[in-house]
Amino acid sequence: MSMRGFLLFSFLAAVAAFSAVGGDDALGRGRQIYADTQDFEYPSCAHCHATVSPEQAQRLTLRGPGGTLYGSARREGWRNRKSYKEIGTALQYCAKTWQRRKKGIRGDDLKALVAYLETLGAGEGKLPARRVKRPKPLKDYGGGDAAKGKPLVVWCSGCHGDADDSLSFKLIPGKKRKDVLARKLRGYDTKRRFKPEQGTMSYYTQDRLSDEEARDIIAYLGR
Ligand code: HEC
Ligand code: HEC
Repeated sequence: MSMRGFLLFSFLAAVAAFSAVGGDDALGRGRQIYADTQDFEYPSCAHCHATVSPEQAQRLTLRGPGGTLYGSARREGWRNRKSYKEIGTALQYCAKTWQRRKKGIRGDDLKALVAYLETLGAGEGKLPARRVKRPKPLKDYGGGDAAKGKPLVVWCSGCHGDADDSLSFKLIPGKKRKDVLARKLRGYDTKRRFKPEQGTMSYYTQDRLSDEEARDIIAYLGR
């Protein structure tokens, strides 16, 4: 199994264990939509979001740009916006923006996906909306520690690898310009406009990747 395949597998292991017990058709379909890469063209929900508890997610080898979806169906609101009344609406942004599903996820597929999300961290009562701030541009991207950055780049390898079915190119130290890395990690374009819809890789918010971690990664990968 390729490194990327292995990492993605460890990401999905908890999901597989669940479906062996559940076995319900709609839940199986929902889990499939969560894991679907659409022929390895676009990232799956699983490339970006884990499904295990926040404590377990901290220990995963991979750290995607999105937070864990554990308990996400029970939140009072999503993406800092009270305007999203249900998770089925909140997730359309991801489906359209980075998965390039023109019409988002609809109908029975949406029902199945939401039914699956409801099984993650299910319990009584509502959970507070996560406060996720829009990332600020990384102005000062020099001065990082390459030795610290090297192990962090494993987080990127769920998508960037050398396997044939990898979603994107392998990240090689010294190849990409530091300013390009700095912009990409925070979702900004060359004119310092926030453009999260450019490309199929999402930005990392500060709570998923701190400025210090970003600088260390840039010191290791950048030129
Ligand atoms: C390319 C990466 C990426 C993909 C693919 C992706 N997401 Fe997201 N998602 C994000 C980021 C980044 C955020 C906003 C920051 C965060 O929540 O940590 C987000 C936010 C969300 C939120 C809001 C979380 C909250 O508590 O406010 C939900 C729900 C969500 N995604 C579900 C999904 C589902 C379901 C899929 C698959 C259909 C999906 N996402 C695909 C990256 C992604
Ligand atoms: C969810 C999958 C995913 C993750 C996780 C991810 N990337 Fe990417 N990345 C992509 C894809 C797909 C592209 C090519 C399309 C695009 O530009 O969005 C890309 C493009 C890039 C580029 C090229 C930007 C340019 O304009 O030339 C850089 C640099 C990059 N990624 C760095 C990283 C680093 C560093 C990490 C880890 C901290 C990371 N990526 C994590 C999917 C991902």
